[in-house]
Amino acid sequence: MKTRDRLRIAVQKSGRLSESSQTLLAQCGLKFRQSRDKLFCFGETHPVDLLLVRDDDIPGLIADGVCDLGFVGRNVLEEQRLDQIANKGESALQALRSLGYGSCRLSIATPQDEEFEGPQSLAGRRIATSYPRLLGRYLADAGVTAQIVVLSGSVEIAPRLGTADVICDLVSSGATLIANQLKESVTLLESEAVLAAATTEFLDTRQPMLDLLLRRLDGVMAVRETRLLMMRASRLALAKVRGALPINAFTTVMAVQDDESQVALQSVISGAFGWAELEAIQAAGATQLLVLPVERMLA
Ligand code: PRP
Ligand code: ZN
Repeated sequence: MKTRDRLRIAVQKSGRLSESSQTLLAQCGLKFRQSRDKLFCFGETHPVDLLLVRDDDIPGLIADGVCDLGFVGRNVLEEQRLDQIANKGESALQALRSLGYGSCRLSIATPQDEEFEGPQSLAGRRIATSYPRLLGRYLADAGVTAQIVVLSGSVEIAPRLGTADVICDLVSSGATLIANQLKESVTLLESEAVLAAATTEFLDTRQPMLDLLLRRLDGVMAVRETRLLMMRASRLALAKVRGALPINAFTTVMAVQDDESQVALQSVISGAFGWAELEAIQAAGATQLLVLPVERMLA
């Protein structure tokens, strides 16, 4: 593998993932200066540059070694992994992290007035898609033979044009399907943005930079659902209050000056935490409860 001293990350230029991907990099403390043609962003704070490209090109750019990493939908990555496996017997691409945004699903959609009774109702039909490998795998697993019509875009209008009977495409809000009088019938793949990379390790300074980026990404993703809970409790109620805290809570108990009977608690909690959970802790004897957002975290 070629050596290089700066990491190069492929990011979608415009579309579903572009804004969230750049926001995530900013939250990791990386700042960039964009070139005049808006295709390249030079990293000002770290040896990390961005290439702004079409999302479908991202796995290929990584496979060819032009880019080291990419923020891309799992749907695009999986399709190209299957394509490489079909052509070369293996794929050197992997998803290093799931990033928790850009969620959508790859689904089969049929005309609204048509009944879908499982994969066998696809037998012998024409299915338009930009994901022939994922669709092919689904059909093969189901033991169904159908005709796959490969289109690079505007898949949803194929049934109206008469070029296909049903489609297999990405669904997010579902608005595109409704606008085209189609209904979602079965989901083939749940997708979200992932950090894609080659399966090989870097032998140069890109590796420590990647390690730093992954640590910060993990930190950013962890605090997304992390809260700091602060409260008071009497020493007598302490065991009961602690018992009411979420199982994974990381709790510190402190003495309260001038009041021996009381303690202050500080608890880092993650996962779903709403009014009901807070009220249960209060009912266990906690007072002066405060829930605060966490901005940064290093474990
Ligand atoms: C997908 C898909 C639909 C649309 C569905 O395209 O092809 O057109 O999104 O979203 P909805 O359910 O919210 O209406 P996308 O914007 O990802 O473009 P691309 O496939 O060309 O990258
Ligand atoms: Zn695309």
